[in-house]
Amino acid sequence: MIAKVRKAVFPAAGLGTRFLPATKAQPKEMLPLVDKPLIQYGVEEAMQSGVQNIIIVTGRGKSAIEDHFDVSFELEHLLETRSKKDLLATVRAVSDMIDVSYVRQKEALGLGHAVLRARELVNDEPFSVILSDDVIDSEVPCLRQLIDVYEFYGAPVVALMEVPTENISAYGVVDAEPVAHAGGRDRLYRVRNMVEKPKASDAPSNLAIIGRYVLTPEVFRSLDAIEPGSGGEIQLTDGLKHLLRSRPIYGYRFEGTRYDAGDKLGFLKATVEFALKRHDLGEEFRCYLQGLKL
Ligand code: G1P
Repeated sequence: MIAKVRKAVFPAAGLGTRFLPATKAQPKEMLPLVDKPLIQYGVEEAMQSGVQNIIIVTGRGKSAIEDHFDVSFELEHLLETRSKKDLLATVRAVSDMIDVSYVRQKEALGLGHAVLRARELVNDEPFSVILSDDVIDSEVPCLRQLIDVYEFYGAPVVALMEVPTENISAYGVVDAEPVAHAGGRDRLYRVRNMVEKPKASDAPSNLAIIGRYVLTPEVFRSLDAIEPGSGGEIQLTDGLKHLLRSRPIYGYRFEGTRYDAGDKLGFLKATVEFALKRHDLGEEFRCYLQGLKL
């Protein structure tokens, strides 16, 4: 029997330097896309994928994240007395929907190091990792697409996306062969090798790892074993590459649109497109955009 994926780890201890000065005193995970903080998009994706147990790896200056997922008695009381039922439901939904635990990453020593900090809370079971910078809009939640593959093969799965060569050095990149899957999925790959942030000339392909992973607990041993890599940090990609020696790893070219919301331009694109999709704002916002002399 393949164990169920019940937990999602959200590394959230990074310094958010790409978004300074907005992130000087505020976690980048709390930057709002329209009216919801980035991390909530990821948490909702986890929930919609059947994962309710959320583990957030936080660091210094990240207490707004904890407050966000707590019950806010003062705010709820105020909304109740002012009969703002809809808003009350929206606010409650956040704290009601999940079971959150927190673990600290004292120093920002890399994504692999952050995942390793969740080891005790994850324990000996498969788990997922969501990078909230990567906001993915899709019919079937991206994490669910990966879990479906995991449930078939019982092996780790990473999300993949084709990116132009000029951007490839910003990503973990895989060397992978397509797998003819019984379900006819032309999106599935078996990973042969992977490299974190290669020079474009060294990249093994244009298939980049995007921030959704389903992992098995052996990855912790690999993360323990590796040395710092790109940027002097313990990289998750390097941990997975180490794990590849003993385990097959799959990649899935997910269906959906991914926004790099940790980047200013990506954030702006996501804001515009998410606002256009909103029932309460979309029409007026579209008119406004159409009226701009561009
Ligand atoms: C991280 C990972 C990288 C992955 C990327 C996806 O990099 O280390 O392998 O391709 O997320 O967004 P970061 O963007 O944190 O530098």
